[in-house]
Amino acid sequence: MSHPENFAKGLSIGIIMDGNGRWAKQRGLARTAGHKRGAEVFQDITRYCNELGVESVFFYAFSTENWRRPAEEVSTIMRLFGDYLLKAFDYEKENNRVVFLGDRTALEPRYQELMDEIETRTAHNTGMTLNVAVNYGGRPEIVRAAQLLAKKVADGQLRPEEIDEAAMADMMYTCGQKDPDFILRPSGEKRLSNFMLWQAAYSELVEMDVLWPDFTRHDLDLAIEEFNRRSRRFGGI
Ligand code: FPP
Repeated sequence: MSHPENFAKGLSIGIIMDGNGRWAKQRGLARTAGHKRGAEVFQDITRYCNELGVESVFFYAFSTENWRRPAEEVSTIMRLFGDYLLKAFDYEKENNRVVFLGDRTALEPRYQELMDEIETRTAHNTGMTLNVAVNYGGRPEIVRAAQLLAKKVADGQLRPEEIDEAAMADMMYTCGQKDPDFILRPSGEKRLSNFMLWQAAYSELVEMDVLWPDFTRHDLDLAIEEFNRRSRRFGGI
């Protein structure tokens, strides 16, 4: 498909990959089959974002609440995370900078090591920033930022009145990155579900009626078109 010039160049997009379970249920399959298909879609949409010249993308892969799911489902999601993300994907070729958002200390040590290695290895890449949120929650991220700043104050490196929005933003996992222009939620739900609470202050929300495992490049085109139609005033007129 041909796009107007600057269709998606420089955009920052948050994506809540939702509907894997419902997709599987509709087909009489185990929920884990939905996650597998979802991981394939993640890979294809990442490639497409690269092709479109998107600046950064933020995928919500696993929330701090998702540990409550059955152990088998959690371990499948983690395995898929390992297979699709940490090993199979060719970040060097795509020139992506990879950043993981969330508390990785709860993950298996081998995953933590791989995540550290991928971040270090891709830190100087100049293409799109691919953010993947794993064991991530927006409130825990804000609490962590407050703790980091409180430590600086306690250590005498910062005065309380020097804490401003920029200081807070620097303590987020997304430090130095542009806030998402829009957050896309497939599967018809209209919630943020604890995703990027700090960063989403002015993000447009785009919800779509397609389940994530069915999500196509064309659906992303439609979401970007919808975003491009909206007028953004940042509280002004
Ligand atoms: C939400 O659908 C999806 C998840 C909780 C997991 C998403 C994980 C992947 C796509 C695979 C691993 C990640 C990567 C980055 C390769 P849901 O299960 O809540 O769906 P439902 O609302 O229909 O039950």
